[in-house]
Amino acid sequence: MEQYVIKGGNPLVGEVEIGGAKNAALPIIAASLMTNDTVHIDNIPDVRDTDVLLKSIQTMGVFVERTGRHSLTINASQIQHLVVEDDNIKKIRASYYLIGALLAKYKRVEVALPGGCNIGSRAIDLHIKGFRALGAEVTIEHGLIKTKAERLLGSHIYMDSVSVGATINVMMAAAMAEGTTIIENAAKEPHVVDLANFLNSMGAGIKGAGTDVIRIKGVPKLHGTDYTIIPDQIEAGTYMFAAAITKGDVTVKNVIPKHLESISAKLLEIGCEVEESDDAVRVVSSKPLQHTHVKTLPYPGFPTDMQPQIAVALALSQGTSIVTETIFDNRFKYVDELTRMGASIKVEGNTAIISGVNKYTGASITVPDLRAGAALILAALAADGYSTVEEIQYVARGYEDFHLKLQSLGAQIEVVDSERALQKFKLKTG
Ligand code: UD1
Repeated sequence: MEQYVIKGGNPLVGEVEIGGAKNAALPIIAASLMTNDTVHIDNIPDVRDTDVLLKSIQTMGVFVERTGRHSLTINASQIQHLVVEDDNIKKIRASYYLIGALLAKYKRVEVALPGGCNIGSRAIDLHIKGFRALGAEVTIEHGLIKTKAERLLGSHIYMDSVSVGATINVMMAAAMAEGTTIIENAAKEPHVVDLANFLNSMGAGIKGAGTDVIRIKGVPKLHGTDYTIIPDQIEAGTYMFAAAITKGDVTVKNVIPKHLESISAKLLEIGCEVEESDDAVRVVSSKPLQHTHVKTLPYPGFPTDMQPQIAVALALSQGTSIVTETIFDNRFKYVDELTRMGASIKVEGNTAIISGVNKYTGASITVPDLRAGAALILAALAADGYSTVEEIQYVARGYEDFHLKLQSLGAQIEVVDSERALQKFKLKTG
């Protein structure tokens, strides 16, 4: 089984190119099935989640051609199956985006219930409420969400809580409904805006994405497009925190600094220097890190997908910090692993009380989920001595070339698949 072996202690220094946003690419790939014309997409991240979705749509009869590592051509004029339950699709959360997209175009679809990271109960009631408000019949049977509608009719939908997935899904279905749909209390994440821009480039009538009221004037048909996905806010944020945690100096390139504001604000608060330019952000960590409090919130608040990374930094800061997780109910599973590296953290409900320590020490750790995995790897890069990291396939779900990009910043990290390879790494770096 492949694992990472890491020798910690090197500050990460240099520049790193950020890829396209995974959480924008997934709904955009699904939405490209809403037209019979050909769609070209650029800046697709080469990560496992997008790969799984692409394999799955191919089993439905969709033509998919990778025209480069990050570019794709998709044509969905020959879809043969409207029941999607292959083994691939069950692995990812974003499988449910096929419901909004295909319900819009074909007025019926059945998709296996979503998988994805186990970070708490992940309900889909708001998605279902939205589809029903548009006139669809929705049932859950034999592990499938089954939807069908005679017609989809525009509606006024209030989201009881802010949900990225439900906002995106309902936006797709409403894009081809008759009349106007208004989504209130919509999610404002950059990837919600990116999907709206993508759909508009295909002829949809969506206004207000990025605010909490989205107005969608349905159209009967969408056409082909050529579109470039926005940079990944969370990948960028992870490397920014890598600089903070390892006392380094990292410039993330090809980013939209506005999307990183809540992350930059917290880095400044804990004593890092942050320099922004048009499409890059540099983070320098030269002073002892300071404690702070942070609460995860929907955009533009501090992202829940950055919660483990900031906790790893705060656990190395001076003083006591409090991290409150308000989005998911089981997102502190990495704390036990971090404790084994020397952190002092007490979790009470949705709050982690962190007493800063001076250093981490290397340990054998197991990745519990995607973002926590990245955060634990950053901790290992800052730790004294060697760490091994198991279950690294979770990290590949959302980070392209993670260890290669870290190596280019000076990290001592390698993928090994045997005790011999591990010993060889130790000899080389000892
Ligand atoms: C997306 C992201 C994920 C990120 C999250 C929050 C993708 C593929 N994943 O997940 O990386 O952590 O946004 O920014 O884009 N909820 C309900 N009912 C619903 C839907 C959601 O109660 O029908 C709850 C969830 O349980 C959760 C909260 O709303 O507590 C937020 O979830 P949501 O914004 O929907 O997250 P995802 O779209 O699943």
